[in-house]
Formats: sequence, structure tokens, C-alpha cells
Amino acid sequence: MEDIQTWLREGWQEFTYQQGELCCEEVSLNHLAREVGLPFYVYSSRSIREAFLSYKEGFGDQKHIIAYAVKANENLSIIHLLRQLGAGADIVSVGQLYRAQLAGIPGHKILYSGVGKTDREIRAALEAGILFFNVESEEELVRISQISEEVQIRAGIAIRINPDVDPKTHPYISTGMKEHKFGVEIPAAIELYRRAEADPWLEVRGIQCHIGSQITEPSPHREALERVLMVRAQLSEMGIETRYIDLGGGLGIRYSEEEPPAPAEFVRGLLEIAGGLDVSWILEPGRSIVGNSGALVCQVLYRKEHGGKHYTIVDAGMNDLIRPAIYEAFHPILPVCQSDQPDHRIHTEVVGPICESTDQFAWDRSLPPLEQKDLLAILAAGAYGAAMSSNYNAKPFCPEILVDGKEWRLIRRRQTIEELVAFEREFLAEA
Ligand code: LLP
Repeated sequence: MEDIQTWLREGWQEFTYQQGELCCEEVSLNHLAREVGLPFYVYSSRSIREAFLSYKEGFGDQKHIIAYAVKANENLSIIHLLRQLGAGADIVSVGQLYRAQLAGIPGHKILYSGVGKTDREIRAALEAGILFFNVESEEELVRISQISEEVQIRAGIAIRINPDVDPKTHPYISTGMKEHKFGVEIPAAIELYRRAEADPWLEVRGIQCHIGSQITEPSPHREALERVLMVRAQLSEMGIETRYIDLGGGLGIRYSEEEPPAPAEFVRGLLEIAGGLDVSWILEPGRSIVGNSGALVCQVLYRKEHGGKHYTIVDAGMNDLIRPAIYEAFHPILPVCQSDQPDHRIHTEVVGPICESTDQFAWDRSLPPLEQKDLLAILAAGAYGAAMSSNYNAKPFCPEILVDGKEWRLIRRRQTIEELVAFEREFLAEA
């Protein structure tokens, strides 16, 4: 891990040291901490824009929809920023549908994924005029057809095939192998297409697969595409046309020493395999759009030596960023004030205040010596950071800030203690 510490002397993507202070684009994190308190999330809009435009560049003049996977970061201002660039949305709940609609994403650019869509969600999505549902079981297909008839709106559908491809990523975030709950195996998927084609309330629009997340090499997506193309050809022989090919999300980012391709390169690699096919392409990227744009900024509360280890206790916890706790995920950590003795380092366990042993951000991490009240930035936290945060231990959700050059905007304020109990308050009188 020493290598990564060396690069980190300069900073991380849009997080760089300027006059000794870590800045997001041109805004100092110290300044933001004074304005909004700690801890907080901060995102670089430049980084989000660049990632999105790189996908767009890869597609060139091929018909496509870049359907941002809202689950990666659900903040309305971020969805709105992406909508302004032309993004669609991949959603998995009625809550995300509402978010996408508030951000102005039109129904015809929205896809609905997920293995467990409820009646209410199916109805809302039909009424919103979404492009299609990514269907994951026979019973779901039947239910969508029944609800379509009830509301008298035909449903666009794609079947999510399970291509049985090893995505070579963390087992908890791989989804496209036989043993996973996701998708439909190829022979069964073909049967579902036959059934959908014959159903007057269903309109077959596409074919979809999503094999996992944080995939840093090109071969798994390529293999998945080859299988999708095979199924598509077979369907075509049966007279079933799939106008859209949706390959899901999954492109990884750099957290430490990974070297994933840029989105443009990734897309070009896929298009090459398809060899000029006349289809509309869809991707559902989440992490690769927002992951490297964000940092969680927190403060050192206390330090202690104990059991032969040095601990740095900070004011953010697994309630704010759960990835290290549940996936042992590595996130780079930088002091907000640049060390004046970069070669003098300690090895420390960076932990949060939550009453769980897994409430930890880093194990045996090499950092400059830290004092109480020093600020730390936990980087590459723009995806599955705030989106997976919780109120565990009755900790309020922290604020989120979006930076653009020298400007910054509070895009979510800190939740109040009163709001934490708001859903329960109305029942207090009866107690
Ligand atoms: N489409 C579908 C159907 C998905 O399930 C996902 C992610 C995406 C697209 C977006 O994938 P991405 O481009 O972000 O890799 N919480 C985990 C990641 C879970 C991903 C779930 N599905 C983490 O923090 O690593």
C-alpha cells in the first residue's frame, strides 16, 4: 500500500492540495467544514460530468441511453446534473422513480430493474410511461401483464438474462452467475420471451443483463455481451425483435491500484464486438459515474494505543459509509491539511463511533501523525456512500455538498435530531 500513499501526496482526482489544504476542485475542505460542520459528503461536479461524457464519447453516433443507476447516489441534484447532460435512469423502487421524475428524467429514458417489484411499484412505473421493465422471473412477467391490463397501459419489457459469467469481482457484488438470485437462465428466458410476445399487454423491447459491480477488466462484460447477442439472434429467428440491448452497469473505478478502462474505451470495446449492429444501446452505470467524485470528510475525535494497535477515532461511522464494514472495501484516506513531514508516518486503525467492531474505515493504514480535531477525507466515496447510509445509533444523515469550480452548493442539509423521531412522534400521545 505504500505506492498509493506516494501518489496520494498530490491528491486524488479532483481532490488536490492547494497551498497545503485539500480542495475539491477549487474549494477548500477546511472552508466547507467551517460552513456546514462535520462530518459531510462533498462531490465534484467536474468529475461526474467527465465520467458521463466519456460514456457518451464512447457511443459516438450510435443510438444509446446512459441510464444512470440511481442507487449509486440518489441525491436529487446529482440526478439533475446528469439529466442536464442527457442521462436516463435505472431505478429499482418507487422512491427512485419519484427521484428521477423530480430531477426531470422523462419516462421514456427510465428502466425498472430489481427482482422484487411490488404491485404498487409496477403500477406507478406504468403510469410514468417508463421505457421497459427488466423482468427477472415468470411470475413477475405474469404480474406485470395483469397490472397492465388493469390500468390499460401496455408494458415495455426486457428479460434480464443470467449469462453465467464470472465478473471477477467481490463475491458480494457479483450477480451474473448461476448461483445468484438475479436474472433468468437462457433457456427459460427464451420461453419467457415467447410468452411475452404472445401477450397483448406486453411489448418486447429489449434484452438485458447485469453481471456485477466494480468490474475492472473488460473480459466479463465482453463475454456477457457475446451471450446476449447469441440469445438475441435466436429470438430474431423466432420472429421476436429486441430493439434495445442493455448491458447493465458494473464498470469499476480506482480505489487503490485498480486500473479500469475509461468509460469511452470500455464502450468502444463492447461496440467492436457487436460490429455495427443496428440497435439502441443502453448501459446502467452507477459507480463509474459518481464513485471518484466524492469524499466523506470527518474529524479526529480521539487517539489511543490499545492491544498493540494505534487507533484513530473519527466522528463519521459505518452509518455514513458502510462499504469498509461490509466488504472490507479499501478507500484512500488523506489528511485535509497536508503534512509538512510527508515521510513521518504512523500505522493506525481508523474507526468510527458506532458500537460495532466492524465500524472501521481502514486497517493498519499508513498516515501522517494526526492530532485531535484534524480533518480527514475518505475518498472514492461518491458511490454507495451516502446512498447506503443509515440512522443506526440514532445518528442523523450528514450534509452533502456539490462543488463546481470555485462554487459550492449545499445539496442536502444535515438531518435534525427532531427529524430522527418525526415518524414516531405522532404515536407519543397514546403512550
Ligand atoms: N444495474 C443493476 C441492475 C444493478 O443492480 C446495479 C448495481 C447497477 C446497474 C449499477 O452498477 P455499478 O455501475 O454501480 O457497478 N453496494 C455495492 C454495490 C452494489 C451494486 C448493486 N447493483 C458497493 O458498495 O460496492
